[in-house]
Parts: sequence; C-alpha cells; structure tokens
Amino acid sequence: MMEKNHNVSRRQFLTYALLGTGGFMAAGLIMPMVRFGVDPILQADAEEDMIDVVSVDELTDVPQAFDMEYEQDHGWHVEQVQETVWIYLDGDEVVALSPVCTHLGCTVNWGTDPDNPEQFFCPCHFGRFERDGTNIPGTPPTEPLHRYDHEVRDGRVLLGNPSPQV
Ligand code: FES
Repeated sequence: MMEKNHNVSRRQFLTYALLGTGGFMAAGLIMPMVRFGVDPILQADAEEDMIDVVSVDELTDVPQAFDMEYEQDHGWHVEQVQETVWIYLDGDEVVALSPVCTHLGCTVNWGTDPDNPEQFFCPCHFGRFERDGTNIPGTPPTEPLHRYDHEVRDGRVLLGNPSPQV
C-alpha cells in the first residue's frame, strides 16, 4: 500500500502563513469600513421607528399606563417586545415617561403610595418621583424617570426611544 506524503515544504508553510496573516489583517481593516458604511442605514431605520401607541383623545392630565408593542430585530432573530409607558397631558403637551425606576430598575406606578397619591412610587425601595418624572430628594433614585421622544400625527401619539431628562 502506498503512503501519501503529507510533508509541507518550507516554501509552502511560509506561503500559507503569509496568506493567513494577510487575510486576518485585511479582515481587520475591512470590517470597520463595512460597519461604518452600514451604520447610517441602521440609524435611518431607527429614526423611522416611531411606534403608534394611543389616541390623544384618550389622554388626561393624570398619568395612565399604555402598552407599546413593537418588533426588535437582533439580526439573528426578531423579538416581539411589549413595554408599558406612562403618558399624560401637561396642558397641550404630551408627556411620556418610562416606568423603569432609575434606582435599580423596578417598575414605578402612579399614585400607589397612599401618603403621596400625586407621585410615581417604586415599591422596591420606596423611591418616589414627581408627576414630570423628577426624583424626590431623600428617596433612593438619583435621577428623573426617562422620557420618550414623541410626536403627534393625525391625532395619534407616536413614541420613539426613552432618554434621560437632564
Ligand atoms: S428600584 Fe426603585 S427605589 Fe430602588
């Protein structure tokens, strides 16, 4: 039986090593360029992603919880997401606040602390927030509730992303 010769010559080894190293370095240069090329496209999509949540007619000056549903594309799978948002009218202005407590992330509710019925209350560590989301000094949260970007289109409230109120 004949045995195959699997020996690699020095020249072949150097060729493979150079090709491998060169390919690795080329990928390191090209990948960031591809990413910078694709990123603006993804950003443009994100700006379009305003979610229709509720009719302005349903809003009052008392914060109410509304569900916001959307699909989040992770690249390898699409996730169905549901968030709750506190929304109310401050005069003619729509205010939409995140229910995520800025202390450790529990969920805040409106008016559930009998001693402070006109505030948001977090039951985890008794955090409290004013109606506009401002954290009450002396309670654990150190920053206001995050506020959603919003616009009103054809009598409907559309929400974007929440961001810190600073
Ligand atoms: S998580 Fe809300 S007060 Fe701590």
